Amino acid sequence: MKIVSVINYKGGVGKTTVTANLAAELAYRGNKILILDMDAQASLTFSLMTPDYWDTMVKEKHTIKSWFDCISQSEKVMPLAELVLRPEKVNNYLSRTDGCIDLISSHLGLINVDLELATLLGGANLKQSKINYLKVHGKLKGELEKIAKSNDYDFVLIDCPPNFNIVTKNAIIASDQILIPAKPDYLSTLGIDYLQRSVKDLINEYNEYANMDDDCDIVNPEFLGVIFTMIQIRNQEPIRAQKQFISQTKRNKFDVPVFNEYFRENKTIFADAPQQGIPVVLNGYSNGTHSDIVAEISSFVDEFLERSEG
Ligand SMILES: Nc1ncnc2c1ncn2[C@@H]1O[C@H](COP(=O)(O)OP(=O)(O)OP(=O)(O)O)[C@@H](O)[C@H]1O
Ligand SMILES: [Mg+2]
Repeated sequence: MKIVSVINYKGGVGKTTVTANLAAELAYRGNKILILDMDAQASLTFSLMTPDYWDTMVKEKHTIKSWFDCISQSEKVMPLAELVLRPEKVNNYLSRTDGCIDLISSHLGLINVDLELATLLGGANLKQSKINYLKVHGKLKGELEKIAKSNDYDFVLIDCPPNFNIVTKNAIIASDQILIPAKPDYLSTLGIDYLQRSVKDLINEYNEYANMDDDCDIVNPEFLGVIFTMIQIRNQEPIRAQKQFISQTKRNKFDVPVFNEYFRENKTIFADAPQQGIPVVLNGYSNGTHSDIVAEISSFVDEFLERSEG
């Protein structure tokens, strides 16, 4: 079992699209997948279930917000298993396979959770500060490991919000591996370096506290790599300007490798999928371009599995 965070604090770079398609292709190949939507925008939640269903059946008691609320109100947290939903449409599609996609849904109110959690930090002395820090940042880790084991998941994929708040930090601490979707342009390339440093700083800070606590293991999530998204294709390859940033990222020798495969840009095909409730990689091929996109995603997943399990 692997817990993988999909993260980049730049907005709109394709995190949710990559998470949905990675989950779908892994499930199609027979894996049991749990998706945790940690973004208050709830894009991934609404890509798998309708807002009406969420509003009536999920919103009140079955989102990750309820779970974080327990922490901020210093109540005992419910087992994550109580929050797991199985989105109908995509799982009907997957019924011919051994795989499935479960979801822990997000909540639009998750945006306020961060402020409430932040009030728990600090303390009268170092010991108390340490306990509070570990409680606020490390709780998700143990609980996700429990549910992954009891429900026999092969992968837990966490779709992170475009920020580096406490909720995102919980995801990083809980992760075995980190996947970074990015666009190949100037600011995004700078952002990858910055993100990597922030993640390392967080891990060092967390481990410093965890080292002082016998009940707490140190963490060491590994960077799986950068998956470039929204690639514009001309003559079967990325346009020159993008190619330049891809090569630069490969050359830059951050500790983060770059996936050979990429997600090409296609506004029609990618924009339609969330409303259909079925990720692009599982949708019927409507034309040659769609088939090319499916082949590219499938080859990205080959690479993902090699790196993740390698
Ligand atoms: N390969 C692609 N080609 C064209 N459009 C895409 C592609 N991938 C994603 N999009 C579109 O770009 C927008 C942002 O994508 P997505 O929601 O996956 O990004 P995100 O990084 O999760 O955003 P946020 O930071 O807001 O969570 C969406 O409208 C999506 O449909
Ligand atoms: Mg998103």
